Amino acid sequence: MPIRFDEAALAWHLAGTGLSYVVGIRDGLPRQLHWGEAIPDEAVASLASVQDNGVSWNDALHTGAELLGELGPQFATPSLQLRHPDGAKGFDWHYRDHRITESAANGDHLAIAFTDRDLVLTLHYRLWDTGVLDRWASLEAGAPVEVTRFDSAAWTLPHWADYRLTHLNGDWAAEWQLHRVPLPVGETAIGSRRGSTSHQANPWTALDDGTATETAGLVYSTNLAWSGSWRVLLRRSPQGRVSITGGAGHEGLQWRLRPGETWTTPVYSGLCSTAGFGGTSRAWHEHLRRHILPTPEEDAPVLFNSWEAVYFDVSVEKQLPLVDLAARIGCEQFVVDDGWFGGRVDDHAGLGDWEPNPDRFPDGLAPLIDAVHAKGMKFGIWVEPEMVNPDSDLYRAHPDWVLHQAGRDRTQRRHQMVLDYGRPEVAAWAYGSLDKLLSGNAIDFVKWDHNRPFTEVGRPGDPDPDRAWFEHVEAVYSVKERLREAHPHVRIEGCAGGGGRVDPGMLRHVDSVWTSDNTDAGDRIGIQHGFSHAYPARVMDTWITDEPSEFNRRTTSLRFRFHVASAGVLAVGGNLTEWSEAELEEAAAHVALYKRLRPVVQHGVQYRLGDPAASPLTGVQYVHGDRIAVLAFKTPWHANRALAPLRPEGVAADSRWLDEDTGDVHWGATLNVTGLPLRWSGADWDSAILRLRRVE
Ligand code: DGJ
Repeated sequence: MPIRFDEAALAWHLAGTGLSYVVGIRDGLPRQLHWGEAIPDEAVASLASVQDNGVSWNDALHTGAELLGELGPQFATPSLQLRHPDGAKGFDWHYRDHRITESAANGDHLAIAFTDRDLVLTLHYRLWDTGVLDRWASLEAGAPVEVTRFDSAAWTLPHWADYRLTHLNGDWAAEWQLHRVPLPVGETAIGSRRGSTSHQANPWTALDDGTATETAGLVYSTNLAWSGSWRVLLRRSPQGRVSITGGAGHEGLQWRLRPGETWTTPVYSGLCSTAGFGGTSRAWHEHLRRHILPTPEEDAPVLFNSWEAVYFDVSVEKQLPLVDLAARIGCEQFVVDDGWFGGRVDDHAGLGDWEPNPDRFPDGLAPLIDAVHAKGMKFGIWVEPEMVNPDSDLYRAHPDWVLHQAGRDRTQRRHQMVLDYGRPEVAAWAYGSLDKLLSGNAIDFVKWDHNRPFTEVGRPGDPDPDRAWFEHVEAVYSVKERLREAHPHVRIEGCAGGGGRVDPGMLRHVDSVWTSDNTDAGDRIGIQHGFSHAYPARVMDTWITDEPSEFNRRTTSLRFRFHVASAGVLAVGGNLTEWSEAELEEAAAHVALYKRLRPVVQHGVQYRLGDPAASPLTGVQYVHGDRIAVLAFKTPWHANRALAPLRPEGVAADSRWLDEDTGDVHWGATLNVTGLPLRWSGADWDSAILRLRRVE
């Protein structure tokens, strides 16, 4: 993607397909001059000379600021806050130089360097072939400086009459709730102060002027590649301009840069789409698949997970019957969840001691692993290596290894504390224990969990304790990376008490993620709908579990539960030993059907058909090559009340489609006008799967 420098205008044009981003220096500050429809290079000079269009004096200094600053009449909450040893604050931008590095595979990179005092602040840009622009910044300290805020980037939106924010929030077992709200005048902050991305908010956002729909309209969307605390602040000024600033860390943290040190922020990415919210999601999915996910081209296996089947009651005898049954219904990977190690018989003990529990696995893991492999399945194992129970050999040996502060209580959640991965000896221990586990056992898959937020973050005696918030995340990434390098066949599932740590930063290091602990299929429709706005089905692990649901006591059919779970990476998490012969047979048929759907669901382009918050009839359509799969769901509704049929998206009127189950052939025009021929029973909590193949 070409990046061109217009020296006379002191502006850089990042020209993507159908898209331009222009950054220039105006009033001495780096400013966004354009983000949106493609413009010719000749237009850059005029952009750089036109005064802000309709921007009042009050707005002038933050509109377009690439990072909101502290000096001069800039009154918005800053993106960058610095304090120098002599009490002076802020960064006074002096352009030094720029560097453009071209790379067909990795996108072209632009780095624009500025100086102030003994500091060099560099703004980085990388424009991808997917239309996604990555932005980040680095600060090189020639002299000590204290940092209280360092965002990756600030973005300015076009001047619209109105603004609407779409974002994802929720809670444990209720992640991924989609909220679409008018953006108020003032500052709207979303973020996490928990040390992880969080269940409560995800850094993905979308903004439109209130008129975009699922299928049309201009949408600007951003996402932050960071798996620790974060803050995204959306500022709508009374004069009607909107900027978004975002980065790692939460309000109130402060840390010092030492002379010679360079601090680099995580990547904050943005894109704009003219194809509405659906087009926005597809652009993110495509970008993640092409440039972030480690193994997007692989078919993720159908797995069985033992958690809801037996909870902590894990032993070789109790797992073996599940192994047989999981293999019988067609599972391809068997995952032993929590409870196999140390003194872990419930959540009071054992975290930190990553050796098989000798009472439960007297001959180690080998007998179970061999049994799993003998059935032709892969073997996976649960770990939570960032945590420790006080009742563990690890904590007894190293009580100082947890995040804690002098003279303060060490808060426990789920009877556990957080290990301080920022300490090199702790990260080394974590890597060593996991490497030993993977080297000593034929393990194919690791479910890496993280079940509590950070509290009392600090290190007694450390003069710069807030660094621990950042160092922890970097060390988690690094341990995962080193494990992947040392054990290239091992796949990793990211989990944080469900979907509490999903973001483009983590998705670089894991192959899929556990979406939510809430496995109720009814609730899952909304959870998966929200998730799909930012992340693709290929990484969305979905289990079918027993009913009634432990979360809301809801009962739905096996078929409905399988159909909902088939919209992502299908897994089975029920207690198969209690399933009847008929249920096992039915399950085997659903798993077999999923395997036929899998290439389309996992590697296809996704269209959302309907919004579960607005309609009882919704579906998800996947298109891959000449195949379409539609998974459709019906939630409770009044008998005989009108319900419009679901219609496909992106189907040409003159195309012809074979229904692979009935043999019927449909014209695209008929599908578009009459609707999809879904075979409903009419009952509540009904579902249907349609498989179409294009015919000449
Ligand atoms: C939380 C995860 O989300 C569950 O799937 C399960 O692994 C438990 N932790 C085990 O403690």
